[in-house]
Amino acid sequence: MAEGKVHIFDTTLRDGEQVPGCKLNTNEKLELALQLEELGVDIIEAGFPISSPGDFESVAQISKAIKNATVCGLSRAVQKDIEVAAQALKYAVRPRIHTGIGTSDFHIKSKFNSTREDILQRAIQCVKWARNFTDDVEFYAEDAGRTDNDYLAQVIEAVIKAGATVVNIPDTTGYCLPYQYGEKIAYLVNNVPNIDKAIISCHCHNDLGLATANSIAGVIAGARQIECTINGLGERAGNTSLEEVVMIIKQHKHLGLHTDINAKQLNPLSRIVSDTMRMPVQPNKAIVGSNAFSHSSGIHQDGFLKDALTYEIINPEEVGADSSKIVLTARSGRSALAYRFQKLGFQFDRNDVDVLYNEFLRVADSKKEVEDGDLQTMGKQHQSNAVVA
Ligand code: KIV
Ligand code: ZN
Repeated sequence: MAEGKVHIFDTTLRDGEQVPGCKLNTNEKLELALQLEELGVDIIEAGFPISSPGDFESVAQISKAIKNATVCGLSRAVQKDIEVAAQALKYAVRPRIHTGIGTSDFHIKSKFNSTREDILQRAIQCVKWARNFTDDVEFYAEDAGRTDNDYLAQVIEAVIKAGATVVNIPDTTGYCLPYQYGEKIAYLVNNVPNIDKAIISCHCHNDLGLATANSIAGVIAGARQIECTINGLGERAGNTSLEEVVMIIKQHKHLGLHTDINAKQLNPLSRIVSDTMRMPVQPNKAIVGSNAFSHSSGIHQDGFLKDALTYEIINPEEVGADSSKIVLTARSGRSALAYRFQKLGFQFDRNDVDVLYNEFLRVADSKKEVEDGDLQTMGKQHQSNAVVA
């Protein structure tokens, strides 16, 4: 079994940037690449150099600026693509060319009007071309999720022989169930004789909401690289979310896996990416959503106030989020109300809170959330009633 380090391959600037409305200019890409390096990602997929002069320039600028992470450029299995990617990566300290071709019968027949044998030869050829420019070549078998395992194993064995150092097994359409994706990786581990010469990479899309689960199933089965994006951005329903896989690996230490990500930067960087890409984060998004550390029901608030671990598996500080929030709504209970009054400087005993709770429910039923200002008014009114009485 491979060692426990899982390489984090960030593709926010390539797959993430393919999202309509998320297009970035060179300066924005460069700024985000520097932040990703700070976060501790191992590989930054900076773009698809042949796709446009702007993207070529972005990859070239990122290659010059990044000193520790590997900088990667995407290409199709086309000689010109690979030459242009190599040119854009010329200044990188650690350049990687990511090249490949569709291997499922859907791609072979409908996209290429070709045969399995022809695609196998094109796969071998593109890796050989790329190896003329760098020792670090990643091969992707597009739509591997729907590729027959025997044929996939044949392609993977051949591209490793041709010089691929990383083999990417994308679930391009987000089709696989976690056990199926895990079995696919295990099949490659057990049936590709030279698999120990390459790192297996998971690249999962989220069409059925399973990208994170599939990537984790992949690393449990022996993959040691996950391709992911900040906030899970990416084509259609998105890619695997970086913050989710990093925190799953951190939380479940028994898996024997680790990453080099500095988790404290997850929330700050999520906000920067969301602002720069003009793509809001859903409030209930794991780890980085605004509700990820909010408690609003009375039962949860009571437990949380007794011991945060009753309802929180991650300390928000650990992921650079604001401290946990107790949100007061009509579903909240007396303990949360008493806690909040105390925070606001009121000294109320149990009887006071009982009286105030009825007033609180009246206000809470009339609006979504009871704010500190509402409580100040209620608290002061209660105090002056007590003086009069
Ligand atoms: O989803 C996919 O298959 C891809 C490849 C180009 C790696 O993004
Ligand atoms: Zn993709």
